[in-house]
Amino acid sequence: MKMETPSIPIVKQSQHPDPILQAVNVKKVFGRGETAVTAVKNIHLDIAAGSMVALKGRSGSGKTTLLNLLAALDQPTEGQVLFNGQELSRLPEKQRSLWRRSQLGLVFQAFGLIPLMSAYENVEFALRIAGTDKKLNKERAETALEWVGMKSRMKHRPPELSGGEQQRVAIARAIAHEPLLLLADEPTAELDSRMGLQVIKVFRDLVERRGMTVVMTTHDPGIMEIVDHVIALEDGEIVAEPKS
Ligand SMILES: Nc1ncnc2c1ncn2[C@@H]1O[C@H](COP(=O)(O)OP(=O)(O)OP(=O)(O)O)[C@@H](O)[C@H]1O
Ligand SMILES: [Mg+2]
Repeated sequence: MKMETPSIPIVKQSQHPDPILQAVNVKKVFGRGETAVTAVKNIHLDIAAGSMVALKGRSGSGKTTLLNLLAALDQPTEGQVLFNGQELSRLPEKQRSLWRRSQLGLVFQAFGLIPLMSAYENVEFALRIAGTDKKLNKERAETALEWVGMKSRMKHRPPELSGGEQQRVAIARAIAHEPLLLLADEPTAELDSRMGLQVIKVFRDLVERRGMTVVMTTHDPGIMEIVDHVIALEDGEIVAEPKS
């Protein structure tokens, strides 16, 4: 009798093959009654640790909503979000916030920098909140600002910086503590394509060196070519073959 050959799963070889982040049948409805808006639905995701994933889709397709759910900044109406197998919405808020500050890096569509603090202070403050070793914070903050080409302007406050420069400070702040997971909402929207690619290279470097996982929204076709997977959203749902 012929021996059956064991099937070899065709998966990208990765140092960290387990999913770090999962969404199981996630749905989010804002409001109720006649004005209810279903922002995302039927979302199933398995994001492998150490991978880079881009979310794309038209304005209003649900990208920001989904990122907020993955960051546990918002609760799904239905379904679950799991980080390393743990359901985030079941954690007490204190633990969830500790998780967010220490393991997660967040880049928002509106950068959320503190206007009265310099670029350096914004990054250093985030490190303090993340609870990293205080002795190393100065070096880490300066290094992160250098990664995004902002070290020379680090004494300036956000209102004295251009939109793209503020965005780069927000990125430095999100990655300075070298999070396990980076969730970034259009992190290169304000950057020209050269600077956008430089920032993505910084992400890629952290993925390769530290096993960081990245989920980011983007409209940039150049970036979609660099990431490991592209997920397309249409009207709040993941589509296999996007129309555009
Ligand atoms: N708090 C809210 N209350 C009601 N509706 C909301 C709320 N937040 C988002 N929505 C709606 O949910 C849908 C998805 O919005 P979302 O912000 O996720 O889109 P997006 O893909 O990020 O768009 P963009 O590319 O413009 O940033 C939109 O129709 C939006 O109007
Ligand atoms: Mg958005």
